[in-house]
Amino acid sequence: MRVLCLGDVVGHSGVSIVKKLLSDLIKKYDIDFVIANGENAAPNGRGIGPNEFESLLNAGVDVITLGNHYNRNKEFKQLIGETNLVLPLNLLNGDPKEGSKLYYVKGNHIRVTSILKDASAEASVVHEFLLVKEIIENNPKCIHIIDFHAEYTGDKKSFGYLFDGQISAMMGTHTHVQTRDYQILPRGTGYITDLGMCGDYESILGFEKNSVINKLYFGASENFLVGDSSKKILSGVVLDINETTFLCRQIFPVYIIDEEVKK
Ligand SMILES: [Fe+2]
Ligand SMILES: [Fe+2]
Repeated sequence: MRVLCLGDVVGHSGVSIVKKLLSDLIKKYDIDFVIANGENAAPNGRGIGPNEFESLLNAGVDVITLGNHYNRNKEFKQLIGETNLVLPLNLLNGDPKEGSKLYYVKGNHIRVTSILKDASAEASVVHEFLLVKEIIENNPKCIHIIDFHAEYTGDKKSFGYLFDGQISAMMGTHTHVQTRDYQILPRGTGYITDLGMCGDYESILGFEKNSVINKLYFGASENFLVGDSSKKILSGVVLDINETTFLCRQIFPVYIIDEEVKK
């Protein structure tokens, strides 16, 4: 079973690069299932609404996970309950049914779970360990993929080792920068500290660089603008998962910088 996991899709630039490249990637790598983090997919990079949700699904994404920006878009409420959307499991007032969902793909059960670590969160979260342990104990015969959305690399690696051999893969999200440490942990769990992002390449976190610099260094009060240069990036990993052991056979990165032809 081959799963493509894409990092945070940022704004219209992120949605457009996914639309442009995903179908070819699915063919090239013989992908069965695609997971993308959509917490920044709204046109302004904050949250997600129905339009970009539909666009990503139509582009070939099967499941969209979220993160600390999960409810930043005012139309987000319309998406609650969507089968293909996974909210953070460990929100203080969240619904656990929305944080871990089971899919059936080509004879295999795949459970996708989203975790938000408090270091990155505007949202209040409860400790994730017991919640994830319970999910694994209650679902022993399936592929488990966890999106661990957090700032700190140490939190992410700790979680990976903690559940090594019990989950198929853990991919970190949130920093928008892909890490080089993709690997299979000693007991068979596929791991990367951060998938990176899909969005504008000549940017800061997918946002127009001057708007970020002006805010961070010179006190500008305007929000960051989504970057829209001619260079876009799509980044993530491909997981090859053994359908009998549910462990990871192979993990390799996808990191494509795509330059539009200037008119
Ligand atoms: Fe993000
Ligand atoms: Fe985030």
